[in-house]
Amino acid sequence: MRNPGQCENLYQKSLDVILKAQQPGGAYLACPVMPDYQFSWFRDGAYISYALTIDGQRGSVMWGKSRAAQWESAGRFHEWCARIINRRSDRLERTIARARQGLALVLDDTLNARYRPDGEEGPQGWPEFQLDGPGIWLWSLHQYVLTAHLRPLPVAWERAVDLTARYLAALWQTPCHDYWEERGGDVHISTLASIFAGLNAAQALLPRLNLEATMEAIRDFVLRKGLTPAGEFSKAVGLDAVDGSLISVATPCRLVPPDDPIMRRTIARIERELSAPGGGIYRYREDTYYGGGPWILLALWLAWYYVEVNERARAEEILAWAADQADEAGNLPEQVNRSLLSPAHYAPWVAQRGPIANPLVWCHAKYLIVRRKMEDMR
Ligand code: BGC
Repeated sequence: MRNPGQCENLYQKSLDVILKAQQPGGAYLACPVMPDYQFSWFRDGAYISYALTIDGQRGSVMWGKSRAAQWESAGRFHEWCARIINRRSDRLERTIARARQGLALVLDDTLNARYRPDGEEGPQGWPEFQLDGPGIWLWSLHQYVLTAHLRPLPVAWERAVDLTARYLAALWQTPCHDYWEERGGDVHISTLASIFAGLNAAQALLPRLNLEATMEAIRDFVLRKGLTPAGEFSKAVGLDAVDGSLISVATPCRLVPPDDPIMRRTIARIERELSAPGGGIYRYREDTYYGGGPWILLALWLAWYYVEVNERARAEEILAWAADQADEAGNLPEQVNRSLLSPAHYAPWVAQRGPIANPLVWCHAKYLIVRRKMEDMR
């Protein structure tokens, strides 16, 4: 998908994939054809709605018979999230109260990472307790409110922002599953960055929350406990390893600015250790999911970072590689089935879940984000 016409197609295709994945209630399916991914994640949806938020600035798209702008879609997702959260307010308030008293977490009273489009929990057994999702959702909602000049905040959104922010502020030190829904006993640095971004957003939306001290405590904790011996951000407290999701610490979470020396060192180590031969970025060195191939959305995330530090040539190179990974129909999969870190694990995952998720909706969102950011750079 290299020439300009093909790239335009991938741009349109990405919008198409995203809008088609949205359900009547506002949820975005993570992948419309993979049974385990026919849920809506806070994490995926936050980036999807952000892509539509910034894309909507250039005008609205026609969709079906009606004029369904990108903002309308993003707004419906935020409404869906607010509904999910508000419906669980009693349980979340209990969790906040327990955390404040130093009592153990009751998982039933926490937010899940993913919900069915009707807002119900999915089957038991998924590693649902993940704090990055609600954090990055608050960030995305704030971006939407700013960009679409949405004031005053709808009452249900205000309630959900208030509740989610207090929930995250009470739980931020609690171990949870990471961006990849793994390592539930660890405290993950990219999770803390998402929580930081979410609290920052909530504070801007509702200054009465007084979250500044908690945000400072999170940044201080990361700088004291979240670094590797060589001074990079670490995958989790106590590990000497990086993870592709650490790009988010700066882009977009701004726990530090993108050109911060720690961030620069982290990106350099990600490039050194997680770049796949032939292109793409691995999630982490020990990844075995579908054999541990390179992820397109992580490569695009890195391109987004390079746009932010004004390294346009590298961003363009990655964008072109990512576009080349689209199949004949223009779909972008979750990962590339080449240069696998652990080839023996490929077949067992296919047997368990079917082929690699394709299209992966938040991968298309990352593509849109990079396209828009590159245009803004011109
Ligand atoms: C990834 C998550 C993602 C989910 C749905 C999982 O395999 O690890 O980051 O949210 O898929 O796309």
